[in-house]
Amino acid sequence: MKVATEPKHQESRHATLALHGGTPVRSTPLPLEFPGVHHMGEEEIEAAVRVLRSRSPFRFYGVDLQGEVEGFESEFTAFENVSHCLALTSGTGALHTALAALGVGPGQEVIVPAYMWVSVVAAVVNLGAIPVLADIDDTFCLDPASVEARITPRTSGIIAVHMSGAPADVEAIAAVARRHSLFLLEDCAQCAGGSIDGRRVGSFGDIGIFSFQMNKNMTSGEGGCLVTQSEYLYQRAFAVHDTGYARDAAGRAMYDKLEYCLWGRGYRLDEMRAAVLRVQLRKLPQIISKMRASKYRFREALRRFPQVQLRRIVDERGDTGCFFLTTFAAPELARAVNRALRAEGIVTFSQGINDVLMTEWGLHLYYNIPSLVQKTGIDKRNSPWSLAENQGSRTEYGKGTCPHADSLFERTNLLAVPSNLTEQDEDDIITAFDKVLTALAG
Ligand SMILES: Cc1ncc(COP(=O)(O)O)c(C=O)c1O
Repeated sequence: MKVATEPKHQESRHATLALHGGTPVRSTPLPLEFPGVHHMGEEEIEAAVRVLRSRSPFRFYGVDLQGEVEGFESEFTAFENVSHCLALTSGTGALHTALAALGVGPGQEVIVPAYMWVSVVAAVVNLGAIPVLADIDDTFCLDPASVEARITPRTSGIIAVHMSGAPADVEAIAAVARRHSLFLLEDCAQCAGGSIDGRRVGSFGDIGIFSFQMNKNMTSGEGGCLVTQSEYLYQRAFAVHDTGYARDAAGRAMYDKLEYCLWGRGYRLDEMRAAVLRVQLRKLPQIISKMRASKYRFREALRRFPQVQLRRIVDERGDTGCFFLTTFAAPELARAVNRALRAEGIVTFSQGINDVLMTEWGLHLYYNIPSLVQKTGIDKRNSPWSLAENQGSRTEYGKGTCPHADSLFERTNLLAVPSNLTEQDEDDIITAFDKVLTALAG
């Protein structure tokens, strides 16, 4: 990890802000924030071409099957230090598969964090169950105390989401789950490679899910997987992701194993993406260490500004570093800092979202999800909200339901940390913060 250094442009501290007509710190946009993409090269190309040359892009059979999906599953199993991995077509599909394997359905409540991604609540609602919001704490992930306060006799489980690259306080959350005999599903979509005390996220709960969509730490464009230590849950998940039936060691469908006879949803991963993921998995430690080094340079540089509150990180060594959050005492100051930083050139190309106020962070915030706030149903009966089994459940989703999250969202800036920042890019980001914070909060 890099030693924190003072930015080279000391004079800019007292310079006029770009917002007020001064010269911006940067005139070229920062790189886009897609971590795995910046490390893609000949190895990924070779992997994809290898599958195409074999003319065997399907995981179960082919004219010259390469076994890429199986290879990926066994390598990810070893990486996570668990016993089972199932490759899937997306993180959303992985959430759906996991909850179906766990038997979620009408009459059940699943606790979800106020800060997550729309797929988390979608997976619960799509199965006819009720998502119940719990607040977050200064980790920006589930607050274990809020989780405990939301438990009712209908609660079947908790989805802990490791948000914005850093692990949730998952050991405390797992303790709550154990105390109340609830399942724990970890959503590691934004935290692949993260850990606490050397133990990988995804291995603390009953099931951990991952996404390999393009914004994630490792990617094949689209893709996902789940991991578990349970043979039972693995077999059920396998059935759900395929035709509705688990398979024996020889690959034959097990129609007589009733506990594994479910309904298939067709989320099988293909060989080509698995081949790319095997390469990206090998690169993951290097991708993470690059982002983490940049992020911790920023964190060190900002420590001298008491006006900036930095996110509580459960284990800095296990932080994947893909986002840098800065929180201020008041929303007005957070807004002003964001406007001023952007004017200083701390922005990406138009597709990028790398420097935003959290209130603009779209479907990651519970009250920004229209279908949740308006309780849109999944069918003509307006399930799950209208189902008799679900009456009496807490279904509050408007702004104000999770006050600590609301307050953090309004006071926090979110900066994506691309995995290919040069030292000059990092210097510019530090200089811009320095200039803006000195002018606005000094
Ligand atoms: C926390 C979280 N969960 C789930 C998902 C869904 O993953 P996918 O886009 O692969 O469906 C995402 C992706 O953005 C995510 O950020």
